[in-house]
Amino acid sequence: MAGRLDGKVAIITGASTGIGSASARLFAREGARVVATDIRPPGAELAAAIAAAPDRLRFQTLDVRSEAAWAEGLAACTAAFGHPHILVNNAGALGSGKPVHLETAEAMRAAFDVNVIGMFLGMKAVVPGMMAAGGGAIVNVSSVWGWSGVANNAAYQTAKGAAVMLSKNAGVTYAPHNVRVNCLLPGYVDTPMSRGVTPDEAKALIAFTPLGRRAEPEEIAPMVLFLASDEASFVAAGNYMADGGMAAL
Ligand SMILES: NC(=O)c1ccc[n+]([C@@H]2O[C@H](COP(=O)([O-])OP(=O)(O)OC[C@H]3O[C@@H](n4cnc5c(N)ncnc54)[C@H](O)[C@@H]3O)[C@@H](O)[C@H]2O)c1
Repeated sequence: MAGRLDGKVAIITGASTGIGSASARLFAREGARVVATDIRPPGAELAAAIAAAPDRLRFQTLDVRSEAAWAEGLAACTAAFGHPHILVNNAGALGSGKPVHLETAEAMRAAFDVNVIGMFLGMKAVVPGMMAAGGGAIVNVSSVWGWSGVANNAAYQTAKGAAVMLSKNAGVTYAPHNVRVNCLLPGYVDTPMSRGVTPDEAKALIAFTPLGRRAEPEEIAPMVLFLASDEASFVAAGNYMADGGMAAL
């Protein structure tokens, strides 16, 4: 049966666990050749998927904050599979959770480094090749917290908000080159990152989710797949929630 990403090459960042891992595994099942990247080694599910299909799924260490690491990661992808048609900027870091008056400038910069500069460097690395090839698809993973205001979490929320505008900027800039840049805004998803919240915070997050529960990463990956695939051929420079209804409140 034909896969929805047959013939495509994809790079996914922050892919060792969570949404990135679920997306990498789904992409490979749908026919893509995928370079899954992260600063941590692959989690068990990704490692098993790589072992089962090494011809379509590989792991590459890539710190998204480093331009040199992007050059190396892109070269490895191109050598193994060809220039990517798809980039998923999924790597993210949560930060301290503090409000503005208790947060440090250092922590603000650190949140921007991963969540914004990492996304910027990823697009900067792959866009020239995508334009030369006549098109491509980029999915930038922000957060519903980059859209709706919540108390505290100044660093993460501000960085994720900047990621939304960076995606719109790149989306509008590169759409004439058929490079579709879209932003995905997940709500509360059960991943290693979100397991850092306290039980009270978890309760509050579910109370603010009209569906009344958190998602599994496998419920977010199909949105990533759709935005990355040719099925989304008229979808550009947009923002898409996968948040159980949270942003509508
Ligand atoms: N889990 C949630 O509730 C939730 C909600 C909204 C948005 N998100 C976003 O989804 C994305 C994926 O997160 P997740 O929830 O799957 O968590 P996760 O912890 O499973 O994945 C995040 C990954 O990013 C990697 N990472 C961190 N810094 C990096 C760096 N400098 N370079 C490369 N990789 C780096 C981590 O090692 C980790 O594997 C993130 O951007 C996150 O902000 C998550």
